[in-house]
Amino acid sequence: MDTDSNSCMIQRDVDLTEANTLRLSSTAAAKITIQSIDDLHTAFQFHRSEKIPLRPLGDGSNVILGSFINACILDIAIKGIEVVNEDHDNVWVKVGAGENWHEWVSYALSNSWFGLENLALIPGRVGASPIQNIGAYGVEVASYIDSVQFIDLHPSIDRLESVKNYNNKQCLFSYRNSIFKEKNNHRLIVSVTFRLAKSFTAQLSYPALCDAIDKLQLSCPNADDVFSSVVNLRNSKLPNPYEIPNVGSFFKNIEVDSPTLNRLLTKHSSMPYFSLPNADDKPLFKIPSAWLIEYCGYKGRREGCLAMHAKQALVLTNLAKVKDGEGLSAEDVLKFSTGIVHSVYQEFGLSLEIEPQQINE
Ligand code: EPU
Repeated sequence: MDTDSNSCMIQRDVDLTEANTLRLSSTAAAKITIQSIDDLHTAFQFHRSEKIPLRPLGDGSNVILGSFINACILDIAIKGIEVVNEDHDNVWVKVGAGENWHEWVSYALSNSWFGLENLALIPGRVGASPIQNIGAYGVEVASYIDSVQFIDLHPSIDRLESVKNYNNKQCLFSYRNSIFKEKNNHRLIVSVTFRLAKSFTAQLSYPALCDAIDKLQLSCPNADDVFSSVVNLRNSKLPNPYEIPNVGSFFKNIEVDSPTLNRLLTKHSSMPYFSLPNADDKPLFKIPSAWLIEYCGYKGRREGCLAMHAKQALVLTNLAKVKDGEGLSAEDVLKFSTGIVHSVYQEFGLSLEIEPQQINE
């Protein structure tokens, strides 16, 4: 039964199949839609009275949900876009965690606030973007995040505290990672403040994007050209999660040092690799996991209702027709992906790491 506590509705025994883009069968003990910080007070009271943990969720586009989540899901729908500061070169914009990511990128572009063009069409909400430090076509969101505002939901607190702020450094951003992705993360992101540029500089370091722009034969590509090239590239390779359920890249790319790279190249001279910028003097290289998976014969391979995408080997897709009770579970996905991890390990001695967050309880 649904209960109305203060302003926002608490739903019980909620089916989350439509709330995760991999369309896994999952049920949560409860769910509350959070449209404001006030709604969080309701959620916190519920958490205290029922002794049930709170688990934030956005569009569910980067999660592997377990079959039963004994928690209260917080559907983060906090909206709002506000310019909080500006100078000659930059503008600082605070964006609610519940805003749609792609709509925000488009809105920024329409205001001539630049930097996020390469990150167009990434699924999900703004509040999720710092968690895994979303990145695409040579740009990571960390480069444009000034600070992240959050509420501490640590199990030891007995009163909801005011909004806290981490500056960029405190977020501990790295490749597909941040402090908000820690196993027992208790920080609920309510807004993100971006620092964007008032003048446009094309970021074309990523070979596939550079080629796409070259084909347009423009003397000087503008931000709209980059934005639409990224949209076209993504549409040509990545399945739309609302048509073919998926969570984007299922594995992270792999970083290796020089000795490991040389060992691999001795046996696999055609293996692609890319130099990574690094803080100390030790060279680091990225090996595309998509290539490793393709080499092991998994590109386009289907087992039951799961398959690695035929146009991008890194994307795991769910091809099941979801009728009542017939959906796939996290266990099915992990069984399939473990086969891939073993194959890659046997061939290359490299351990693939799952990229989306696993939420089991
Ligand atoms: N490749 C293959 N087989 C494939 C696909 C790619 O061998 O089926 C090799 C090619 O050598 C290619 C290289 O992998 O040059 C890189 O491929 P791609 O440009 O498609 O990018 P990726 O490294 O596989 C990453 C991100 C994507 C992001 C793209 C574009 C990760 C885990 N994934 O993929 O992010 O869109 O770059 O920048 O870093 C996501 O995180 O969900 C995601 C989709």
